[in-house]
Amino acid sequence: MTKIQKKVIWITGASSGIGEALAHQILAKDGKVILSARRTNKLERVKQNCQGNNPENIKIVPIDLSQVDSLETATQAALKCFGKVDILVNNAGISQRSLAVETTMAANRKIFEVNFFGAVNLTQLILPEMLHRKSGHLVVISSLVGKFGTPLRSCYAASKHALHGYFDSLRTEVAKDNIKVTLICPGYIQTEVSVNALTGDGSKYQKMDETQKSGIPVNICASRIVKAIEQEKQELYIARQEIVGVYLKKLFPTLLSKFLQLQ
Ligand SMILES: NC(=O)c1ccc[n+]([C@@H]2O[C@H](COP(=O)([O-])OP(=O)(O)OC[C@H]3O[C@@H](n4cnc5c(N)ncnc54)[C@H](OP(=O)(O)O)[C@@H]3O)[C@@H](O)[C@H]2O)c1
Repeated sequence: MTKIQKKVIWITGASSGIGEALAHQILAKDGKVILSARRTNKLERVKQNCQGNNPENIKIVPIDLSQVDSLETATQAALKCFGKVDILVNNAGISQRSLAVETTMAANRKIFEVNFFGAVNLTQLILPEMLHRKSGHLVVISSLVGKFGTPLRSCYAASKHALHGYFDSLRTEVAKDNIKVTLICPGYIQTEVSVNALTGDGSKYQKMDETQKSGIPVNICASRIVKAIEQEKQELYIARQEIVGVYLKKLFPTLLSKFLQLQ
């Protein structure tokens, strides 16, 4: 069991949605948080909203995961906040709402740069410090589409599948050094993920999908993530009926593919 109390938890994508909800729940358990994302004004708002907690336990490190050259400096800044990072939550991500044939390579690369290389980059920068202390926990917010592909999500699904390959491999390498790896696969969660998703030309979709609106409330999702961290789970699905896709993919993949095909 991992105790959140007094732990230092670095959350990317903390300016909204799942990352923001995680910050609230970790602070309520007396953890310390480092909030990262691009929009500093939103991070400041999250910090203000968390003020019921000890403000000393909240630090902000702005980050743009697509700016590879800036990540080493950001990691050093995060390490300076509390002297270490116990748990890195690779949560920042961008979704997609476009047919593969209509998606530019620039949009494909942007999704991969943030969702996959962003998480890998930050992990590899923080890992030496965790290895040195022989302690650490890497948490990755993947998706159910990290387990099976669905229409209009080709590169998003690919980026999430890639996270499973990388972090499952990494787990086998660092387990002996007391470093845990947890992959979280949400289904539909009530956040602005569809609003912020990319269309084929790389512009924002800017629509709240019905499935998103009627998804699992974000605070419930965050509390299940915190529990999975505490229980040091390797993988967790957080979803309603859409979870059936995971099992159909394993047992009846042709049936799942036929069911998901666009008309
Ligand atoms: N909501 C769902 O239904 C759902 C389902 C499965 C998986 N997920 C995953 O959950 C994670 C969180 O998404 P969410 O639902 O909370 O959506 P969200 O509200 O859109 O949050 C996405 C976060 O990622 C950050 N971000 C985007 N690009 C970034 C960049 N280049 N550098 C740094 N940060 C960046 C955003 O902050 P800035 O714009 O301020 O940078 C924002 O804080 C994502 O990985 C997503 O794929 C969500």
